[in-house]
Amino acid sequence: MDRLNNKVAIVTGASSGIGRETAKLFAAEGARVVVGARRQAELDSLVAEIAAAGGQAVAVAGDVQDEHFHEALVAAAVANYGRLDIAFNNAGTLGEGGPSTGVSKAGFAETVAINLTASFLAAKHQIAEMVKHGGGSVIFTSTFVGYTFAFPGVAAYAASKSGLIGLTQALAAEFGSQGVRVNAVLPGAVETAMFREHNDSADKQDALASLHALKRVGQPAEVAHSVLYLASDDASFVTGTASLVDGGISVARG
Ligand SMILES: NC(=O)c1ccc[n+]([C@@H]2O[C@H](COP(=O)([O-])OP(=O)(O)OC[C@H]3O[C@@H](n4cnc5c(N)ncnc54)[C@H](OP(=O)(O)O)[C@@H]3O)[C@@H](O)[C@H]2O)c1
Repeated sequence: MDRLNNKVAIVTGASSGIGRETAKLFAAEGARVVVGARRQAELDSLVAEIAAAGGQAVAVAGDVQDEHFHEALVAAAVANYGRLDIAFNNAGTLGEGGPSTGVSKAGFAETVAINLTASFLAAKHQIAEMVKHGGGSVIFTSTFVGYTFAFPGVAAYAASKSGLIGLTQALAAEFGSQGVRVNAVLPGAVETAMFREHNDSADKQDALASLHALKRVGQPAEVAHSVLYLASDDASFVTGTASLVDGGISVARG
């Protein structure tokens, strides 16, 4: 339980789902963690849970669309723990869906702002801090959607999330020489609030589960363990990758 000893990490989208599980796992593995999202109460309960388990965390509430929020997260890492080694940029939204001929310009733009532009702004400030201490590991949460295949009605989500693959490659190429690794994790369907909100019946959930080779959806902790690998020195030669953690939804047919 010491794969992240002496490391300092930021986790966004930490108030629930994949981000919350990953923040807890990072802390259990020895990292000191700055957790971010909009909902202060959920962040406070996460910090208390981590502390009760013997870990260290602080919370910063804000919206990832605000560049100052990313500056504040980095500043909290430095003020509380002296440095920044790991950033899991995981906050995201499905955004405005449905038939693409009806999607508004504002809805499309907001989805891109939350999923893609915010991830760039986050990495911009995180990498500037990481290179002061020899580098670090940046991980984005993308998805198989728009990368290996897509569904009808998810144009903004697919476009914004697949944009993260290009961002991952470009930043990996740009900052590898300074010790910064950049990777994307691409989950399949994972049982979180987002999943339940958009698959609001047992029939819908079963239908989605059946598309995976493993014939089930994933759990947040299963994604968290892959993120831990990418964050840790175990992945010291891994950068620029799009890492599928998708239960085989990308390869299964029938
Ligand atoms: N669940 C899946 O099937 C699945 C599959 C592939 C990829 N993903 C991706 O996994 C990531 C995590 O989602 P999840 O499944 O764990 O869902 P979730 O439980 O709903 O978590 C979403 C997180 O993002 C945060 N967030 C959303 N908009 C934000 C904003 N504008 N500013 C700051 N934080 C914001 C939410 O916090 P607040 O509401 O407190 O701000 C929450 O912590 C997302 O990027 C999602 O696209 C999910």
